[in-house]
Amino acid sequence: MDKVDVGPVSVFKGEFFPPSDKSISHRAVILSSLAEGRSVVKNFLRAQDTESTANAFRSLGIEILGEDSMLTIHGKGLRGLSEPQGVVDCGNSGTTIRLISGVLSGNPFFSVLTGDDSLRKRPMARVIRPLSLMGSQIMARADNRYPPLAIKGGGLNPLRYELPVASAQVKSSILLAGLYCDGETVITEPAKSRDHTERMLPAQGADLRVEGRTVFVRGGRELSPMEMEVPGDFSSAAFFIVAALLIPGSEITARNVGINPTRTGLLEALSRMGAKVGIENVRQMSGEPVADIHCAGGTALKAIDLTEESIPSLIDEFPVFCVAAAYAEGFTTVRGASELRVKESDRIKAMASELRKMGAWVEEYPDGIGIKGIGWLKGTEVESHGDHRIAMAMAVAALAAEGTTTIRGASAVGISFPAFFDILKRLSS
Ligand code: S3P
Repeated sequence: MDKVDVGPVSVFKGEFFPPSDKSISHRAVILSSLAEGRSVVKNFLRAQDTESTANAFRSLGIEILGEDSMLTIHGKGLRGLSEPQGVVDCGNSGTTIRLISGVLSGNPFFSVLTGDDSLRKRPMARVIRPLSLMGSQIMARADNRYPPLAIKGGGLNPLRYELPVASAQVKSSILLAGLYCDGETVITEPAKSRDHTERMLPAQGADLRVEGRTVFVRGGRELSPMEMEVPGDFSSAAFFIVAALLIPGSEITARNVGINPTRTGLLEALSRMGAKVGIENVRQMSGEPVADIHCAGGTALKAIDLTEESIPSLIDEFPVFCVAAAYAEGFTTVRGASELRVKESDRIKAMASELRKMGAWVEEYPDGIGIKGIGWLKGTEVESHGDHRIAMAMAVAALAAEGTTTIRGASAVGISFPAFFDILKRLSS
C-alpha cells in the first residue's frame, strides 16, 4: 500500500481505541529486560518501532514471548545481558538506539548499533557526549555524529549533566546508564520532556527522584519485574482529534488515551485556537493518567503563536498541528522548534513542502514555521518523506480538502500506527 488515496469526507464519526503508547512500550521492554525475572506487559504496541526494541533485546539474550499484544519478558537483571553476535538493527527508531546506548554503556561487552537510512542521519553526539563522560567508549560515523555506533561499556562513573536540549531520549539514556553507577547521577533539562522513564523506574524499585526539571538516580539497585498495561498513545489519537475538529458535524471519542501532561501540549494549543475538547473518565493505568477524549467539529479555529517552552509537550504533534493551522483563520507561527528538523524526517521542511503542494501559504524558518490559514486545501499527490507522522498528518489534511489526495510512502504508518488507514476508513463512513 505504498500509495493511498484519501478523499474528503462529509463527517468523521465514531469511537476508537488508539494503538498503545509507543514511548511506554519501548520502555516496558527495556526495563523488563533489565529486571530479574518474568514481567508481563499488556497492550504492548505491535508496530515496527517497538518490534525493533524487542528484537534488539532478543539479540542481547533476553527471551521475549507473545504473539498478540501481551508480552512475557524473562529479564536477567542489570548485568544479565550478553554480547550480541551481530550488528543490532534499530530500524527507524531513535528511542531504541538512544535508550539502548545508555544500557550498553553500562555493560562490559562490545556492540554495534545501526538503523535505516533515516536513523543513520540522526544526531547521536547528544548521547555519545554524556555517556563518554561517564566512561563509556563509544565511536560513531562522521566524527562521532551518526550511526552506526560502536560501544564498549562498563566501569561507569555518575554524572551531573545539563541537557542542551529538552529530550526524553537523551535523559532516559543517561538515566539507564546511571543505574550502572555507584553514586548519584543528576540530569537537568532546559524544559520538561516526557517523563515515562521517571515514572516506571521507581515502580521497579530504582532509587530515583524528580525535583522540577532535575532527575536524580542512584545506581546499584536491582530492578524488580513488572506487570503493567500500556495506555493508548495520545500522539496517535491526535491525528483523529484534529480531523474531527476540522470537519463540521464530526464527533469522535478516543478511548483509553494516555494524558500525561508532558505529552498533551496539543490539547492546550487547540483550546487556545478555540477548539472544544472534552476529557472524560480520567483514571490511572500503570502509573500514567488515562482518559477518554471527546471532540466535535464545527468551531472555526483561530491562529496562535507557539513558542519554545511549549514545544516539548507537543513535539510529535507538530505535523498535525501544522494541518490545523492551515485550516485556521489567521497567521500561525511555531518558533524555537529546530528539534523538529532532526526527527524521522526534517518535519519543518516536510510539512512546508507538502502543505504548499495542497495550496497552503507557508513560510519556513530555521527554527519553525509560519502558516497562513486560507480555509481550504486542494487534493493532490503528496509525499510522506518516509515519516509515519507526515503520512498521517497529510491524510488528515486530505480528509478536509477539496478533491482526492494521493499519499506516496503511506506504508510509513506501520512505524507507530499500522491500523491507521483502517480506522480512518471506519470513522469516515
Ligand atoms: C521519545 C521522545 C521524543 C519523541 C520521540 C519519542 C521517547 O524525542 O519525539 O518520538 O520515547 O523518549 P526526543 O526526546 O529526542 O525529543
